[in-house]
Amino acid sequence: MAGQTKVLVVLFAMSLVAYILQINGVNGDPQVPCFFIFGDSLVDNGNNNPLLTEAKVNYKPYGIDFGGTPTGRFNNGRTQADILGQLLGFDDFIPPYTTARGNVILKGVNYASGAAGIRDETGYQLGDIIPLNEQLRNHQITVLRITAMLRNRTAAQKYLNKCLYYVGMGNNDYLNNYFLPQFYTTALIYTPQQYAQQLIDQYRKQITRLYNLGARKVAIFGVGVIGCIPYAISTFGTNGSACVDRFNEAAQIFNTMLISLVDELNSRYTYAKFIYVNSFGIGSGDPTSVGFTVLNVGCCPVNNIGQCIPFLTPCQNRTTYVFWDSFHPTEAVNLLTASRSYTAFLPSDTYPIDIKRLAQLQL
Ligand SMILES: *[C@@H]1O[C@H](CO)[C@@H](O)[C@H](O)[C@H]1NC(C)=O
Ligand SMILES: *[C@@H]1O[C@H](CO)[C@@H](O)[C@H](O)[C@H]1NC(C)=O
Ligand SMILES: *[C@@H]1O[C@H](CO)[C@@H](O)[C@H](O)[C@H]1NC(C)=O
Repeated sequence: MAGQTKVLVVLFAMSLVAYILQINGVNGDPQVPCFFIFGDSLVDNGNNNPLLTEAKVNYKPYGIDFGGTPTGRFNNGRTQADILGQLLGFDDFIPPYTTARGNVILKGVNYASGAAGIRDETGYQLGDIIPLNEQLRNHQITVLRITAMLRNRTAAQKYLNKCLYYVGMGNNDYLNNYFLPQFYTTALIYTPQQYAQQLIDQYRKQITRLYNLGARKVAIFGVGVIGCIPYAISTFGTNGSACVDRFNEAAQIFNTMLISLVDELNSRYTYAKFIYVNSFGIGSGDPTSVGFTVLNVGCCPVNNIGQCIPFLTPCQNRTTYVFWDSFHPTEAVNLLTASRSYTAFLPSDTYPIDIKRLAQLQL
């Protein structure tokens, strides 16, 4: 049975890659008119570049598999959001808010910021970041610009209702807040249960704000397996376990509450659909079953904050590494996780439906 599953997973991964290569060349309209992205370094594509922060990576070897160009993406190639955009049928990558000008914003904008979180203070120990509240303020500006372009408020809202919204927050509220007691007091004030509740209460307001700005198709990505990233293991130790268990336990408490929030939003708003993407579950499988051989150490040599040291040569074969640096998965992993959020591979990957069905929904 285990062997059979392994074969199936490998076959699935191979057909997926073939499928993605194939769709890259296809023209035609995307499945949704626009795609807006809110998130952290997993999907940041350059918004932190002009900021005064250590959380920026617009230097080599970042982007080595992105035409060799460092763009501010925190890995060797495409992010999950880049790949999702391709799966949705967009010809071009959704531009970062920082540089997006003119008509391109009609196809969507990426507001994501490395080290950012649900809480405003999250990530501040690294310098400036764009927390979710500010990402939403930036989106409000985009909505005004789109309304001006279409010269009709009703038409603009109808247009924005059809778009897909990616929201992936929370990882840094743990990694760059709760689990850094030398900089933050949250762990002194809250138990993991109370902290997750605080985060969810704030997230509910933020997602409601997004709804009020016209979002009707919203994919919310849960917190990933943060206890298994090289940074967590090397900095905190695992006490004989495979990963830092208390990190993963805290993430799971948050994710369980997030699923309830998705249920709550779906029952409150009839003409909208919110889905949960189980990043934790998708990231929990055995990576060796899909061809990865290096699991616990990043591909590039890293500095004291877990980012690649500028201009040092990274590993040769990036497709066999799970991690690019101490925090971020390689493009090869992004390809698998983005694809499973788009078309669920296991029923538990997305809830209640996957992104492909969300995009096609007639609301
Ligand atoms: C604005 O757009 C709506 C919906 O598309 C349309 O019904 C209405 O006629 C438009 N109003 C103007 C003034 O063009
Ligand atoms: C380490 O593991 C042992 C055995 O499972 C357990 O008793 C102990 O509480 C753990 N220590 C910490 C700091 O988690
Ligand atoms: C990289 O790894 C893949 C998968 O293990 C393998 O098929 C490929 O030949 C390797 N390429 C190089 C250049 O080592």
